[in-house]
Amino acid sequence: MSKALGAEADALLLELAAITSRPGMIARFYLTPEHRRAMDLVGAWMRADGLEVSEDAVASVRGIWRCGKPDAKRLVLGSHIDTVVNAGRFDGPLGVVAPLLALREARRAGLRINHDIEIIAFGDEEGSRFPATFAGSLALTGQFNPASLDGLDEDGISLREALIAFGKSPDDIAKAAIARETFAGYLEVHIEQGPVLEAEGLSLGVVEAIVGQTRGVLTVTGVAGHAGTVPMAYRHDAFQAMAEMAFALERRARSGRDGLVATIGKVSIGPGLVNVIPDRAVFSIDVRSSVDATRVEAVSMFLEEAHAIAARRGCTLEYVESQVAKRVACDPVFRAGLAEAIALGGQRVRELPSGAGHDAQVMAALGPSAMLFVRCKAGVSHNPAEFASHEDMGDAIAALAAALPRIGNVRNDTD
Ligand code: GLV
Ligand code: MN
Ligand code: MN
Repeated sequence: MSKALGAEADALLLELAAITSRPGMIARFYLTPEHRRAMDLVGAWMRADGLEVSEDAVASVRGIWRCGKPDAKRLVLGSHIDTVVNAGRFDGPLGVVAPLLALREARRAGLRINHDIEIIAFGDEEGSRFPATFAGSLALTGQFNPASLDGLDEDGISLREALIAFGKSPDDIAKAAIARETFAGYLEVHIEQGPVLEAEGLSLGVVEAIVGQTRGVLTVTGVAGHAGTVPMAYRHDAFQAMAEMAFALERRARSGRDGLVATIGKVSIGPGLVNVIPDRAVFSIDVRSSVDATRVEAVSMFLEEAHAIAARRGCTLEYVESQVAKRVACDPVFRAGLAEAIALGGQRVRELPSGAGHDAQVMAALGPSAMLFVRCKAGVSHNPAEFASHEDMGDAIAALAAALPRIGNVRNDTD
């Protein structure tokens, strides 16, 4: 039964995966024609299930099922439909497809609850296009920072311009917010993206907390020169300065505690010619830890070291922070509801932290927020080899359907 549900989920995931901007791989970015097509597909699925479908000003697709009670609060279920480059098909989309099928199952079984349910497909969780990310959940929770509208993509298009070209009005972003008093909570289904559930032979897990993260961009400016004529001692090479900074960041993370990790995933140097000493190096940092103070201290000590490296090499350094998300503990009542639903399926309940960022950590600012993790093969993610089985996705959908009447304020009328 639940394997069939998983197969149904996979058929939808494959449909979404076919929408890509790069042939031969999955690559779907915020506010692109592919995002538009993915939104239309998700909207069509929602409409077919009788949900009331709309889009907000930051291009989240939203489908509401009304419980029919006056003054009902809203329980939000969702995840994101944007991807990294050469992505798998599960990271994000599973959290849109699973609630659709779970709600369908629960309604078939006569779901009677006191809250409306809203399923949301956010468009900007990976941060693959603009410097800041989480536009959908930030707008939904009234935390959208208008300064991020000035952030540029690689082609120099600002988020503001991209939204307008997509037919959205940045002036309407505030209207996307859900009022705190009407918010019952948020639940996100996601692949684990790590090896724990597989190692322990479990298909599902309950997330206890989501790590905090800092993202930023460093620009090193040196002096361009002739690769053959400038002796090494006279150089102000922006690339070599960046390389030294990269080692410094890695050293700091390796010797760190509290699950500190640091990544430089995006680098460019200029002018980018074989016989010219680079005068410009730009690179991203992504620093995470399960303890906010550890992360903040690591970033600040790294920046101090990076400035010293730049000064010693006669370069200058500029740092722009693009994203900060604090560690968030998932809601204990929602966690208990998920745990009960997992136990109903006959499994031991495993709680585990999330090292990945999720819209759930942004949603926590508005009220209860929680996540259900699904085992993924070898813990591989952000990679086309990402895989979750039909059985495991089916377990997740069945658990979510069982959790709906159990979570938070959502009570079955017959309780
Ligand atoms: C999202 O996948 C992130 O954690 O970077
Ligand atoms: Mn994700
Ligand atoms: Mn991801």
